[in-house]
Amino acid sequence: MIPDVIANPAALRRRLHEIRQPNSSVGLVPTMGALHSGHAVLLETARRENDVVVASIFVNPLQFDRKDDLEAYPRTMQQDLQICADHGVDLVFAPSAADLYPQEQLTFVDSPFLSRHLCGEFRPGHFRGVATVVLKLFNIVQPDRAYFGEKDAQQLAIIRRMVADLNAPTRIVAVPTVREPDGLALSSRNKLLSAAQRGIAPVLSRALRGAIQSIESGTRSADLIEQSAIAVLASYPEIRVEYFKVADPGTLEPIRQIAGPALIAAAIWLGTTRLIDNICWLPAGERN
Ligand code: PAJ
Repeated sequence: MIPDVIANPAALRRRLHEIRQPNSSVGLVPTMGALHSGHAVLLETARRENDVVVASIFVNPLQFDRKDDLEAYPRTMQQDLQICADHGVDLVFAPSAADLYPQEQLTFVDSPFLSRHLCGEFRPGHFRGVATVVLKLFNIVQPDRAYFGEKDAQQLAIIRRMVADLNAPTRIVAVPTVREPDGLALSSRNKLLSAAQRGIAPVLSRALRGAIQSIESGTRSADLIEQSAIAVLASYPEIRVEYFKVADPGTLEPIRQIAGPALIAAAIWLGTTRLIDNICWLPAGERN
């Protein structure tokens, strides 16, 4: 059954108030729509772990640094609702920009220390927009748990830190990256790739796996790992490498010498489409 779609924040809160039993748990899956199998795993995980599942679908203008990117972002509401129905979502919160930002937003959640690295260096204001909308969603839905993909490692680190630093009463659940058989991480943006670009795109995940292999075989210099991955990626004239970096998974600070857990994260451009991916390396003793 297609879940009820509610656009107004106050109406959503009223509805949750009606259906929430004492001690029942609410899981929230925040999305920007154009749902794919990666989002579906978040929905499935939320369904397993909660009594009530809310999915939000909102292409958040506050987190887009380029107007053309906001306009080109795929919007597939009817398909999205079917995917929500297939995964047992109870309520879909799909506000308009006016529902969520009825007046000029003058208050923001900023995480400047975590935002200055990796994607944040190239997308000024992006994570401020993400953290702000996520805290708004948390305040509207008041979920016990909220589900985020490891695919967006910096976003996950920033949300986790926001919750800890601001004492938000929501548990953050991380879900591993879902990939195509050829390794390409699923992303709503993959729809924007031409057939030729789609053919090249898996080189990003191959470069990340190559970095892991190199660490496994004893390389500890982040410079060496970064340079050899960038050389592989840059050998494709269609690819422009934005960054390929080894960083601390919690602080996102660059690591020079790998001695503990390492996040290897990258962003590339294929034409006008930006793809990101990451992988985490753990020393043998820290794997479970
Ligand atoms: P969106 O890009 O729609 O992603 C919604 C959630 O799905 C995020 O937590 C993202 O990490 C996760 N996700 C995307 N692709 C995935 C994959 N291949 N495997 C596993 N999880 C995946 O991220 C956002 O929206 C927005 O920034 C949002 C948090 C909703 C705030 O606007």
